[in-house]
Amino acid sequence: AKSLRKATVKLSIDPALAEEGYTLDSTSDKEEILLAGGSVKGVWWGLQTLEQLLVAATENPAQMRIPALRIEDAPRFAYRGAHLDCGRHFFTTDEVKTYIDIISAHKINTFHWHLTEDQGWRIEIKKYPELTRIGSQRPETYVGHLYAHTGKYDGTPHGGYYTQDEIRDIVAYAAERQITIIPEIEMPGHAVAALASYPWLGCRGEGYEVWTSWGVNKDIFCVGKETTFEFLQNVLDEVCDLFPGEYIHIGGDEAPRDSWKTCPHCQKRMKELGLEKEAQLQSYLVARIEKYLNAKGRKIIGWDEILEGGVTPTATVMSWRGAEGGIAAAKQGNDAIMVPYQYLYLDYSQTRDQAVYGEPLAIDSGLTLEKCYSFDPFAGLNEEERAHIKGVQANLWTEYIADFGHVQHMLLPRLSAAAEIAWSSEKTDIDTLRRRIRDFMLPLYKARGYR
Ligand code: ACM
Ligand code: ZN
Repeated sequence: AKSLRKATVKLSIDPALAEEGYTLDSTSDKEEILLAGGSVKGVWWGLQTLEQLLVAATENPAQMRIPALRIEDAPRFAYRGAHLDCGRHFFTTDEVKTYIDIISAHKINTFHWHLTEDQGWRIEIKKYPELTRIGSQRPETYVGHLYAHTGKYDGTPHGGYYTQDEIRDIVAYAAERQITIIPEIEMPGHAVAALASYPWLGCRGEGYEVWTSWGVNKDIFCVGKETTFEFLQNVLDEVCDLFPGEYIHIGGDEAPRDSWKTCPHCQKRMKELGLEKEAQLQSYLVARIEKYLNAKGRKIIGWDEILEGGVTPTATVMSWRGAEGGIAAAKQGNDAIMVPYQYLYLDYSQTRDQAVYGEPLAIDSGLTLEKCYSFDPFAGLNEEERAHIKGVQANLWTEYIADFGHVQHMLLPRLSAAAEIAWSSEKTDIDTLRRRIRDFMLPLYKARGYR
């Protein structure tokens, strides 16, 4: 407990540490703070801790001081994710970079970038220019709650997309902050913007428009036609060129199979394959796309619906409709990532009674900080099954979130609770978590100008 007038921070790599682990030591007699990481990643996460300590110590940088301490730290999960839906609403490259800064400060190492939706296709694909010329724009947007049916259309066009150069820039920006980006290209559902761009991708083959409302749309990719696979594979070729990470997310959620039931192409495909249920046709799509991506050295992640018609043992399941999908996946030997909406959907409002606390319109309410932190990713699993839980993730869908200030309002401080579940093996009580957020995270948010 002595104070240093001036200190040098010495960074080093110590291969004896866990890859993402670090030690931070300010107890030296010399005027130096030692930060060692198991890799560059570990050093980076240690720097995030150091920044928290410094900012918390004082809001006047001239007087920054940190106590004499030694921290030995390493993450619980290898996968610590945060997701942003840029399909429902478009966010600029600068906003996406700020999102990356925010999640990196929480030692999140994976950004799940939701790039294609019914309401907008946001990634430039050179081979298919209509995807962005047509699919990235909508003439107006439904404003109001999806289930209340009292909303109105705003009459204001909304659109935007990321050029391939912008995507490369964002991927590099994320990598510098030790974050891997997992792009999501949704199939077979949430694809209306693609169908509006190239109507032959749908079973009906005509009459699609970029959606201006919310919910689950019945128009999905036709899996009977070979041309759909050519399209998806060509898109994925460009996606793989842009994103160097191991995983590609192929969606798979909320895909009503109604159009497949009456489509001659889809029915012919089912007959040829000897399939009885349309759910198996989705499994065929997923397995075929997985094989294609595996041949390119990549792995797939899909939402838990991909379990329904049977799934290959090598697909990773992202469990959103509760933890059940992740538990089922782990029990049958598949890897899983836990994102149960009850705990980790940060588009739900932060208070129990949204109206009383004046929170903006949200899909649902009551996802308090405490509720978020109460999630146990290992509940209901034995030791062997637990090894298949690769991590947890917080999701942020943007039907009701049109600007980046609102994104931050939803994200903070609950991301701290999600990040704590992802990083720390030790569970503390909610009051301790609240105190840590108050003492260490709020000063950081303030210093960086986050909302
Ligand atoms: C989802 O929330 N539909 C994955
Ligand atoms: Zn079809």
